[in-house]
Amino acid sequence: MIEETLDKDCAKRKMFTHAIVRTPPKSIIAGIANANLGVPDYETALQQHQNYVEALQACGLTIITIPAAEDFPDSCFVEDTALLTKRWAIIARFGARSRQGEEVEVRELLRRYFNHVESIEAPGTVEPGDIMMVGDHFYIGLSQRTNNAGARQMISLLEKQGSSGSTVEMSEMLHLKSGLSYLENNVLVACGEFLRKPEFANFNLISVDPDEAPAANCIWVNGTVIAPIGFPKTIAKIKAAGYPVTPLNISEFQKLDGGLSCLSLRF
Ligand code: GLY
Repeated sequence: MIEETLDKDCAKRKMFTHAIVRTPPKSIIAGIANANLGVPDYETALQQHQNYVEALQACGLTIITIPAAEDFPDSCFVEDTALLTKRWAIIARFGARSRQGEEVEVRELLRRYFNHVESIEAPGTVEPGDIMMVGDHFYIGLSQRTNNAGARQMISLLEKQGSSGSTVEMSEMLHLKSGLSYLENNVLVACGEFLRKPEFANFNLISVDPDEAPAANCIWVNGTVIAPIGFPKTIAKIKAAGYPVTPLNISEFQKLDGGLSCLSLRF
């Protein structure tokens, strides 16, 4: 029932109505980190997370908060637990062993909002940070976290519910959306290897300079683009493309290679 209402709302207005977030745990200091930016400060992370929630609320979203999970240092990056389409929730299977299990509580929650919940099975791994939605098509990055078996399962599930998917070879970044963000209206923010990929050549590309690479992870939420602070060239380009921009400081999450998209499941 809730699913049908959401479906109608989204189809009619092309808008998100909800976001699921997960409170950062104290154990965030032990999260997986390759960024060489230092250890996150827990209190600062909590404040930045609250600011993020308020930015989503300002875009009209109802926030559903899952309590912190101390056993899972990276669990505030809740986007990686599931792919949400207009019709289905597809529960991911983590490539990072320390993150396997984060999805359990999310699955229970999603059953309240989606009548149809599927799961990726072993040996497949998919982390939805590797999946970019463009209308009814889903680009899936083959990364160190998402393997071919997982991508094939995901594409098969997407096709069963009326969407499509394709894989993207990648080698430079943690997740596909570490370097790519779709801002609707055929506009794609991209950096690094993604600027040269033929599959993205027909988009209107907003090119992110290498010294602003983290700005390639931003999110379109009901017409507004939420972007990380500290990257003035990219923010100016996004504004010049006609989008209002809400800048946010997410320094503590960037220390764990995380970005704005990773911090919520939007539907
Ligand atoms: N630190 C987030 C991740 O590696 O998945």
